[in-house]
Amino acid sequence: MFVPSLWVVSAAIVERGVMEGFIRGLPKVELHLHIEGTLEPEMMFEMAGRNGVTLPFADVDEVRAAYQFSDLQSFLDIYYQGAEVLQTERDFHDLMWAYLSRMAGENLRHAEIFFDPQTHLGRGIGFETFMGGFATAQQNARERLGITTKLIMCFLRHLDGAEAVATIRAAMPFKGAIAAVGLDSGERGNPPERFADAFAMAREAGLRAVAHAGEEGPPAYITGALDVLGAERIDHGVACEQDEALLDRLVASRIPLTMCPLSNVKLRVFDVMEDHNLKRLLDRGVAVTVNSDDPAYFGGYLTDNYLAIQRALDLSRDDLVALARNGIEATFLDDPSKAVLLADLAAYAAG
Ligand code: ADE
Ligand code: ZN
Repeated sequence: MFVPSLWVVSAAIVERGVMEGFIRGLPKVELHLHIEGTLEPEMMFEMAGRNGVTLPFADVDEVRAAYQFSDLQSFLDIYYQGAEVLQTERDFHDLMWAYLSRMAGENLRHAEIFFDPQTHLGRGIGFETFMGGFATAQQNARERLGITTKLIMCFLRHLDGAEAVATIRAAMPFKGAIAAVGLDSGERGNPPERFADAFAMAREAGLRAVAHAGEEGPPAYITGALDVLGAERIDHGVACEQDEALLDRLVASRIPLTMCPLSNVKLRVFDVMEDHNLKRLLDRGVAVTVNSDDPAYFGGYLTDNYLAIQRALDLSRDDLVALARNGIEATFLDDPSKAVLLADLAAYAAG
């Protein structure tokens, strides 16, 4: 049996630490982050207490122990339940500020953040409440942390197309604060075509478009999101590998995929991280990016996702820089703002 010497073990530990430091310091952007998915159990309990909500858990350890998922739906059930503690403008502010202030320590430079209005509207909580809370935290992040943000309003795909249309109508007074629309929630059996009208209205109003597709659903949902919804980025997209023509199209068009490694293992899209197709897609020329999805539920924020995929697939520093660069290029920032981030990344990689 091979027994590694103390020296080999120590060198491996040092190398891990160096890689972690490199990833932590990389100038990064995040493009696939559900703000409701950053609700840590401690905050869940705090908000439940001040809002008089009774949680079906005795303490934070019990909450964390419940985070064992068999698929996307098993996660969504617990995720929508958790979101019920979010009630006041202060709650939405605190949630957004907790995420952004934490990410300042990971050299996050820019984030395009999903929110699910229908989860809140359905409980009688209006746009002015969550948009007001988000706006204050976003402004503070820009001024105090140097982190810029954009908001992406998602439609829940387990609800019908008419409800999505009503949601985009209700959002119109706030459209100046919203960069794009997206599509999330349970994918299986909920194809993108049902949301064509809502996306058309959003695009007519000048909003950009992205969509979750090919997380658990087939590659046809990716094609549908591109052709019918006008999606400019695909969230997840792991299923694209099953369709050669689609792969060729993604490579030629450089349509970005916002991949979320820890999410995919936690929700059993891949059994183990070593099975993830991120590196194969990167090598093939797809514009792959790394993101955290719902970090409070999936065991890690952005740096953790980079680290997990680096270790499992033995990514090089060049791979990591390419992933960070793909992220910057895939943002909805204007070209001068992208150029600043790209120059910072180049300087970091060279140093
Ligand atoms: N909502 C929050 N996280 C999601 C995910 N990974 N897929 C679809 N909808 C979501
Ligand atoms: Zn997601």
